[in-house]
Amino acid sequence: MASLTRSVPRLTRTAVTLARSQHTLPPLPYAYDALEPSISSEIMTLHHTKHHQTYVNGLNAAEESLGKFQSAGDIKSIIGLQAALKFNGGGHINHSLFWKNLAPSSSAETKVPTSGALYDQVTADFGSFDNLKKEVNAKTAAVQGSGWGWLGFNKGTKKLEVVTTANQDPLLTHVPIIGIDIWEHAFYLQYKNVKPDYLNAIWDVINYKEAEARLVAAKK
Ligand SMILES: [Fe+2]
Repeated sequence: MASLTRSVPRLTRTAVTLARSQHTLPPLPYAYDALEPSISSEIMTLHHTKHHQTYVNGLNAAEESLGKFQSAGDIKSIIGLQAALKFNGGGHINHSLFWKNLAPSSSAETKVPTSGALYDQVTADFGSFDNLKKEVNAKTAAVQGSGWGWLGFNKGTKKLEVVTTANQDPLLTHVPIIGIDIWEHAFYLQYKNVKPDYLNAIWDVINYKEAEARLVAAKK
């Protein structure tokens, strides 16, 4: 009985630690083949179950190490974890945003808006959705190596702006409205080296309703 009472606090502490540190792969809000022909089922399956899962695993491992180093007061080792936290944490954040800002081309979510908050803001800042698409695609195609193209809301200027980030760096200067993954793992199996074809096709599956919800939240 005495050993049982001693073991309870230890189990409770372990459970709390696990609950705080474990990130999980969010389910896709559609089937793996739902974005065809813009993005193939093979790409979506690998991208979600392998690539995103790897970022989740890496983030959990880095946070577990962080907890140990903090408990030990090991500042040098904590500093040494920064790159892993940024890469894997950014990868998890970016992909979680990415899945939600896509939707099947047959759905109401992918119809280009003709009214509403997003329509008004895009028209004011870019003139038209065609102009927006051209600017996003040009700047995203110009990313050297791996990275992301973003339509972001600048809370200072109150404008939508097109920006890019390298590697898995999350967008911190703007509120992300639409993110486009321009890592080769996002398109190479289907589009090979032809980035412009991938970038043109992805607009058929952009979830404008999600983009509008993010914009409305950003402006509050
Ligand atoms: Fe990716």
